[in-house]
Amino acid sequence: MVSVPAKIHLLGEHAAVYGKPAILTAVDRRLSVTVFASNQKEALDEYQNLRQIIEPIITKELKIKEIPPYKLTISSQIPIGSGLGSSAAVATGVIAALLLFLKVKWNVNLVNKLAFEAEKVFHGNPSGGDNATVVFGGLLWFQKISQDKKIIKHLPFSIPEKLARNFVLIDTGKPAESTREMVNGVRLLSQEKPKVVEKFLIDQQHLTHELVEVIKNSNEERLMQIIREGERNLETIGVVSPYVSSMIRIIEAVGGAAKICGGGGKTKGTGMLLAYHPNPLVIKQIAEKRKLSFFQTRLGVEGLRRE
Ligand code: MEV
Repeated sequence: MVSVPAKIHLLGEHAAVYGKPAILTAVDRRLSVTVFASNQKEALDEYQNLRQIIEPIITKELKIKEIPPYKLTISSQIPIGSGLGSSAAVATGVIAALLLFLKVKWNVNLVNKLAFEAEKVFHGNPSGGDNATVVFGGLLWFQKISQDKKIIKHLPFSIPEKLARNFVLIDTGKPAESTREMVNGVRLLSQEKPKVVEKFLIDQQHLTHELVEVIKNSNEERLMQIIREGERNLETIGVVSPYVSSMIRIIEAVGGAAKICGGGGKTKGTGMLLAYHPNPLVIKQIAEKRKLSFFQTRLGVEGLRRE
């Protein structure tokens, strides 16, 4: 069995697709996958689509004709389509479990490479940040240089406890739009209004660089400002619905900060909202008032692992 964590973007979602840096962290919601031999040739389980996407990626890489019949089980604490990297976690878990089943030597770089191929099928044009984070875990600096080249660095520190304990994740609801659609929307915007997207990219890049020092130095005030500015920038490219941006304004008005942490959404829900307040109870009350579920979780947890 293998297990894989969820991820959030502290900053850099969407910008990462255009080669700008992102900071991501693995969060303590895990997905477990087991693969074992089964004699039923046509395993007509609920994972047919997934099998059809993942198997060719593996057989091509290993230069084998087919994978012997197997039974697949997936159990997950990661909500689907909520900005927590569920698709990257599924791809990573299934690929890693299948490679173990095929007796391939444990190699996280190989899993990451193949999970990126699966993400391309799921999303069209992923940056690779989601799969890198769920594979390698911790607190990551990620930058896509080209399709084949990415900078993936563990930051040499973790989020200080003083900050980490004040993050709350609020579930604003599954977006009506897929990540593929959201990424595509930004691409269309970059053709219609190139200046808007260029400004977004430059502003996010500066904030992402600054965020490294801010986390390292545990600078709470500036952390909240960066989350607010990063969120406003995301709003300029149309990835935050009015429903969620108005909730974020309320969080800001009571001295907190919040941002989407993945592809976002246009109509209502935008998936998980990453919220911060020096007193996280304040955020919880705002979520409760709206009957939205929320949770606090450990950040910077271990990536893909054998169980
Ligand atoms: C999705 O979790 C993050 C995006 O930046 C897409 C990507 O990086 O592949 C929206």
